[in-house]
Amino acid sequence: MIIVSHRGPYQFSRDDDGELVAQRGAGGIVSALSPLLADKADATWIAAAMSDDDRAAGRAGTIAHLDVNVRLLDLDREQHRMHYEVVANGVLWFLHHGMFDRARRPRFDLRFRDAWEAFVAVNQHFADVVAQSAPAGEIVLVQDYQLCLVPGQLRAQRPDLRVVHFTHTPFAGPDDLSVLPTDVGAQLCASLASSPAGFHTGRWADAYRRSARAALGRGAGIAAPFVASLGPDVAALEAVSVSTGARAAARSLADVVGDRLVIARTDRIEPSKNIVRGFLAYDRLLEARPGLRGRVVFVAMVYPSRQGLAEYLAYESEVEQTVARVNDRWSTRDWKPILLDDRDDYARSVAGMQRYDVLLVNALRDGLNLVAKEGPVVNRRDGVLCLSPEAGAYEELKTAALRVHPYDIEQCAGALDDALSMPLDERAGRASKLRALATKRSPADWLADLVGHAGQ
Ligand code: G6P
Repeated sequence: MIIVSHRGPYQFSRDDDGELVAQRGAGGIVSALSPLLADKADATWIAAAMSDDDRAAGRAGTIAHLDVNVRLLDLDREQHRMHYEVVANGVLWFLHHGMFDRARRPRFDLRFRDAWEAFVAVNQHFADVVAQSAPAGEIVLVQDYQLCLVPGQLRAQRPDLRVVHFTHTPFAGPDDLSVLPTDVGAQLCASLASSPAGFHTGRWADAYRRSARAALGRGAGIAAPFVASLGPDVAALEAVSVSTGARAAARSLADVVGDRLVIARTDRIEPSKNIVRGFLAYDRLLEARPGLRGRVVFVAMVYPSRQGLAEYLAYESEVEQTVARVNDRWSTRDWKPILLDDRDDYARSVAGMQRYDVLLVNALRDGLNLVAKEGPVVNRRDGVLCLSPEAGAYEELKTAALRVHPYDIEQCAGALDDALSMPLDERAGRASKLRALATKRSPADWLADLVGHAGQ
C-alpha cells in the first residue's frame, strides 16, 4: 500500500550533535494512520520534504528505520512554494471553505497561471514517483486537496494501480467552484472523477458530485464518490492522557483555573475556525451574566499555522487583539477571563480537553473537526460540546451536542450560557451519548473503507 500526502508523518530536525532526528508530524491524518501502518512493512508513505532537514533525511531514498517507511520528496523550492502557498493554501483552501472575500479575492492573473503550472508539476512529481515505484495493481491512497491532480495523472500513466483520493476539507459546490477559471475547475474535477473520491460527510460528497457534473458535463464518467468518516484513536488518546506531558500540563492548568468553570477550544489559528467570534460571544456572555464573572475561564489552546500567508498573519493578530480587549475589559486582580496558550503541544491540548466544562467548536466550515470527537473521549467532567453545524462532525454528533450558529454571536453566547448552566444529569446523559457517537468509527474503519473503495 502507498499513502501519498503533502505533509508527512515525520518531520526532521538536528539534535545538539548535528544528527538528524525524526519527530512525529502534526495533524489528524498522521495520528490516525501512523499506528495502523506501524506493523505493515509493505506500506510506504510518500510526502513532501518541508525543510532543509527533511530534504537531508530524504536524500538517501526511503527512510526505513522509522515505524512507517517514509519517502520525502525534494521538490524544487520555488515550485513548491507556489504549489503550497499560492494555489493550495491561497486558493483551494479558501475555495473549499467558502471563505473568499469575493469583492477582493481571488484574482486569476498571469501570476496565478505560473502558480497553477507549478501546482500541476508538483502533483506530477508525486505521481511520477508513485508510478515508478508501485508494484502492479498496488493500492494508492492519495490524501487531500494539495494533491488533487495525482489520481488523474496516475490514471494516465499507470491504469493498473488501484487509486482512491480522500479530501479532508469540505468540497466546493458548483457555485463556489465556478469562481475558478473554467479549465482549472474542470481539470480538478476530471482528476478526482478518475478514481473513487472520499469525503468525511455526505454533504461534501454531494457538493463534489454536483460540482463534477457541472464542470465535466452530464455524460462524463465520474467514479462514484464515497463517505468515510474518521473517528479518534481511543487507545492513543488514552495513552497521551496519562503521559508525563499531559499530567504536567493538567497540573499547571489546575494552578491557573482552580475550581472555576472552563470553556476550552483547541485549533490551529486559521480563519475558518472562527476563533475571534468565539471570543466575542464569550465577551457578550460576561456582559449579560454578571454572575459568571470570575467564575469561568476560556482556555484557548490555539497555535500559529501557515505563517507564509498574509491572511493567517492578519487573523492571528486579530485573535491576539480580541483576547487583549476582552481581558482588559473584565480582568480582576485574581482572574483573567481568557487564557491564551499558543504552543503546538498535543499533550497540553489533551490535558485541556480532559478539564473542560464546555468545548467550543464554532467553525465557519470544516471537513470534520476531529477535536469535536476527541474531546468527549478524554473529557473527565461530562463536558458539553457546543458545535457548529458547519463542522463535518455535526452530522454524526448533533443529537448530543448544543448547536452554535457560527455567525450569530448572540446565539452563541446563549448556547455557552445554556451549556454552563446545564443540570448535571443532562450533562452526564449528553456526555455518554457523545462518547458513544464519537467512537462509532475508528481510524481502522476509515482505512478499511479507503482500501475497500480502492479495490473496486
Ligand atoms: C488540514 C488539511 C491537511 C493539512 C492540515 C495542516 O487538516 O486537511 O491536509 O495538512 O490542515 O495544514 P498544513 O498546511 O500545515 O499541512
